[in-house]
Amino acid sequence: MSSSPNAAALATAQQQGALQVVDGRTGRVYQLPITDDTIAAKDLRQIKVKDGDFGMMCFDPALDGTVVTRSSVCFIDGDRGILNYRGYPIDQLADHSDYLEVAYLVLHGELPSVAQRAAFEAEIRAETRVPESMVRLHEAMSPEVHPMSMLTAALAALGGDFPDAAIVQDASNRRRQIVRLLALTPVVAALGYRRRNGLDVAGILPRPELSYTGNFLHMMLDQGGREAQVHRAFERAMDALLVLHAEHELNCSTNAVRAVGSSLVNPYSAVAAACAALHGPLHGGANQAVLEMLEQIPSVEAVPGFLASCKTGDRRLMGFGHRVYKNYDPRARVIKELAEKVFEVVGANPKLDVARALESAAVRDAYFLERKLYPNVDFYSGLIYSAMGFLPRIFTVFFAVARMAGWLAHWDEMLDDPKNRIVRPRQIYVGHARRDYLPVAQRA
Ligand code: CMC
Repeated sequence: MSSSPNAAALATAQQQGALQVVDGRTGRVYQLPITDDTIAAKDLRQIKVKDGDFGMMCFDPALDGTVVTRSSVCFIDGDRGILNYRGYPIDQLADHSDYLEVAYLVLHGELPSVAQRAAFEAEIRAETRVPESMVRLHEAMSPEVHPMSMLTAALAALGGDFPDAAIVQDASNRRRQIVRLLALTPVVAALGYRRRNGLDVAGILPRPELSYTGNFLHMMLDQGGREAQVHRAFERAMDALLVLHAEHELNCSTNAVRAVGSSLVNPYSAVAAACAALHGPLHGGANQAVLEMLEQIPSVEAVPGFLASCKTGDRRLMGFGHRVYKNYDPRARVIKELAEKVFEVVGANPKLDVARALESAAVRDAYFLERKLYPNVDFYSGLIYSAMGFLPRIFTVFFAVARMAGWLAHWDEMLDDPKNRIVRPRQIYVGHARRDYLPVAQRA
């Protein structure tokens, strides 16, 4: 709807909860309805200079000013450092819950009753096995392949075992695939770990009597029936880390699962895409990058020099900064306490001292303060995994195992919406105008 700019139009816009836009090119006035502090991008399309124009669009390359869905999975207030899964604060879940219960919560919207929990565990257990296809795939892959690349390939290939996974518009079928993916992701991740570390991938079997995290650790570490002794504090720390990483709204990998899943591809391909997104050092790959960074800093004395180099734009302080948090990442607080507990078990580690020194210098430094850069979830998580004896290359795989719950909750929520349409953004074309093909001999 358009008209001339005047006080009456402005009053109507205010009354109706609309944004009044004046197009400086034409002088026309538009009232764009506001809902939840947003306007619908399609309402901009009516803004045209002349009939036949495509209409106005928003330019938002990193999608940080664009809302793509209504979701009830997770709430983040980045300015106040708040993160709740389905309304429950993350610190309460990390302290009192465990991964399987949190996965249930994230996926179903409520914490389970005793009976619901038992039934969920039984469903997961029934699907926890080592698929023959996955053994063959891992044996065929070079141990040099990065474990995140192995996991990405394996998740995509796993879809081949379940032809029924293609029926994504059926809610009960989606639920079946969700249970399978929760059950099989740690198995597949463990096979990748074993392949990478020269351990046998064919003979390993799950141990159903163990917890979800206990079984994951067993499947990675067991050596020919000789039971790997995992310290109780490590299993608890690992489980808490899985809780802390289970869900985080529309981050890069969750956006990937939604964008790819919107094509109605099977969920194994959709989560493989998410896994590939997570691998990047600006996202889940940061936990590996933090440890590699700490390895370059020989001592606490070297911290000021290293920090200075992070302010020139040549490198980033890995594990710092966040697109949404402009305050302490609430997960980093919990993880820091977890790290202290694990280091009580394994003894002091000079890398922890360097990390603490880096953090305390950065949070007082004008560069980081002005840009609101604080430690994020990845700053201390790698230190914990490293203290448990894991090498940095596997850290992001742990993140992926945890985030599977969040990816699938968003995928399911999206497909449950009858208005879901394929995700397909637009571009501003800046390339050549039409030109004719020249045979190679005539090209300059
Ligand atoms: N070290 C140094 N400078 C930084 C950092 C950092 N870690 N992060 C951002 N900046 C600077 C950046 O150079 C820019 O400065 P200027 O305004 O002078 O150009 C300013 O801060 C704003 O940065 P941005 O790139 O616009 O921020 P963003 O929201 O696009 O990026 C981020 C967010 C997480 C990718 C970024 O902070 C970063 O690269 N951090 C290091 C990698 C990391 O720890 N990633 C894990 C994120 S949390 C877990 C997850 O999502 O998986």
